[in-house]
Amino acid sequence: MRHLLSIEELDREAIERIVSMAERFAEVSERPIKKVPALRGRMVLNLFYEASTRTRSSFELAAKRLSADVVNFAASGSSVEKGESLKDTVLTLSAHRPDAIVLRTPWAGASELVSRWCDAAIVNAGDGKHEHPTQALLDVYTLKRHRGAIDGLSIWIVGDVAHSRVARSNILAFRRMGAHVTLAGPPTLIPRGIEQLGCEVRFDLDGLGEADVVYALRMQRERMSEAWVPSLREYADCYQVNARRLKPSQLLMHPGPVNRGVELSGEVVDSPQAVITAQVGAGVVVRMAVLYELLADASSPPPQGQRDRSADVQAAEAAALAGALPGASGKPAERSPRIARGQAG
Ligand code: CP
Repeated sequence: MRHLLSIEELDREAIERIVSMAERFAEVSERPIKKVPALRGRMVLNLFYEASTRTRSSFELAAKRLSADVVNFAASGSSVEKGESLKDTVLTLSAHRPDAIVLRTPWAGASELVSRWCDAAIVNAGDGKHEHPTQALLDVYTLKRHRGAIDGLSIWIVGDVAHSRVARSNILAFRRMGAHVTLAGPPTLIPRGIEQLGCEVRFDLDGLGEADVVYALRMQRERMSEAWVPSLREYADCYQVNARRLKPSQLLMHPGPVNRGVELSGEVVDSPQAVITAQVGAGVVVRMAVLYELLADASSPPPQGQRDRSADVQAAEAAALAGALPGASGKPAERSPRIARGQAG
């Protein structure tokens, strides 16, 4: 596999390898000069058909910190407004020969389709209600930083599961990392049969105290064509995570953007238990790790701190850090075999 389309395709080993690479990139991010030449000469195209603050900015920053060239494309203001289809837009932009396309769309399955239309590595940056794999990876990274191990943790995902691609990716990722996952929300917002993903379902927050981690989800009103709850006030009465419901020992996560006063009270958003801004920060190093996995060839430089590399790789790193191009042979780099090794199925 040479794309990142869903968490379903990643086994635990692959998740751990990306998280561990992200930890090394976090060391780079602490330096005064936060850039490495690992993807010099490669091109990353950010193709966004939907609003985004966190994902878009962190993918751009991640690619730039790896020294890749970055092209940002937003559907608004483009020929999409004149009726150009997703396929024709992808074929048109592929003429610029991007090495990777980071794609955010409101359509489930769009990333998979695009992966059939062009040669670039495709990174799913959120496809409708389906999946948001890099969000799940950055959440695993954040949890590991704050809790050490994820094995055995009780994680409650609270809110609008039905419209949430984050919920789907995170259930899979947290389960794969050994956590016990419980979903809680109104029956209208919990898809029937979702227990098959290996999680429990509750329709109230009575047992929330047992959670080590509370992961709140936004009410995705833009994806609702009808009223799924009687009113936001009633929803907040029953399901809002607030200081009354959250224990001081519990970690609070949210993928953002937060609707203050709806799924979370303002006081818990601003509390020390909330790691919401840490999740955003993790987005950069985790997305660096994903782009590196997909695009770096075997001789390009991993961040310093890796101790188990061969002399050849260390020499290549030294050369690249000294200014030589990765893959200095002039031959086009092949896709990293590492991501293929780590995929399930
Ligand atoms: N969490 C997330 O995907 O946020 P954005 O929509 O701002 O990218």
